Amino acid sequence: MQLVNGKKHLLGIAGMSQALVLNLLDNALELADVSDREIKKVPSLRGKTIINLFLEPSTRTRSSFEIAAKRLSADTINVGASDSSVLKGESLLDMAWTLQAMRPDVIVVRHKNSGSAQFLAQHLKQSSIVNAGDGMHEHPTQALLDALSLKQYYIERPQGITGLKVAIVGDIVHSRVARSNILLHQILGNQITLVAPPTLLPDDFALSYPGVQISNNLGEGLQDADVVIVLRMQLEREAGGFVPSLQEYSREFCVSEKILNLVAPNSVILHPGPINRGLEISGEVADGERSLIARQVTNGIAVRMAVLFELTTGQNVIADEDRGNG
Ligand code: NCD
Repeated sequence: MQLVNGKKHLLGIAGMSQALVLNLLDNALELADVSDREIKKVPSLRGKTIINLFLEPSTRTRSSFEIAAKRLSADTINVGASDSSVLKGESLLDMAWTLQAMRPDVIVVRHKNSGSAQFLAQHLKQSSIVNAGDGMHEHPTQALLDALSLKQYYIERPQGITGLKVAIVGDIVHSRVARSNILLHQILGNQITLVAPPTLLPDDFALSYPGVQISNNLGEGLQDADVVIVLRMQLEREAGGFVPSLQEYSREFCVSEKILNLVAPNSVILHPGPINRGLEISGEVADGERSLIARQVTNGIAVRMAVLFELTTGQNVIADEDRGNG
């Protein structure tokens, strides 16, 4: 979480402390329980207004933010590219100013340009901004929900989710999920290996993340991994032009049960979705026992509840007496 002009925002994982990350995950774990109740609602954010401004396609992130706000009793509206004044040529800032004039407490923004969330935080003085994915830069709530899924999976492990061997595989260069996850696992003190063909993982990329290992070979890169984060080929960002052919890519980099059984038999698999079945991940792995993909989607709600709660109240969920009176 970042302070800009005295207002709190979630713009990225960069700059977050380990204590803050762990606290958000604890709060999210606590709030996850709301979604298991018969009445899935608590009054914590009654009277708060949240605008979801999604100017890039999204299924799970947008619905997850909307459900999270509703489960906390906030009022929420969605603005998408096709129903916004972007089509009339309005700039992002003009649109955001207009929305801010309606006094929302939080504006959640997804935009194709890197840095757009930071830009809004600098210019809007009255609303907190949540980055729901800005270009190829960051997607902080995705990394947090990935970590929550691991926290639940490793609940019995004495060291929790530190000291893990994490492999991130696929279209690294175009991925905001990779960048946020690298930063998060560095904060947690995990060992990170990035696995991709050289065109999707340039040398200078790795230089920005000291201590991170790189491998251009799937079997080698996945060796003894505890956690494998598989990334979608970002075909809308022309990822197809970075490999000789998609068939070639899948032959060498598709994460299959066969390779996992061979080199990382105890690993669990994460994928942010949407998946390209058979391209970066086999159907067998995506639907199999080691996959946490469905859990990631469920956990998206709890993490976003924790983030919205933190930004609008600044209190600790666990100490909030309102909880449970919904
Ligand atoms: C990710 C995104 O949009 O960055 N998806 C998501 O938020 N669930 C990853 C992707 O689209 O590949």
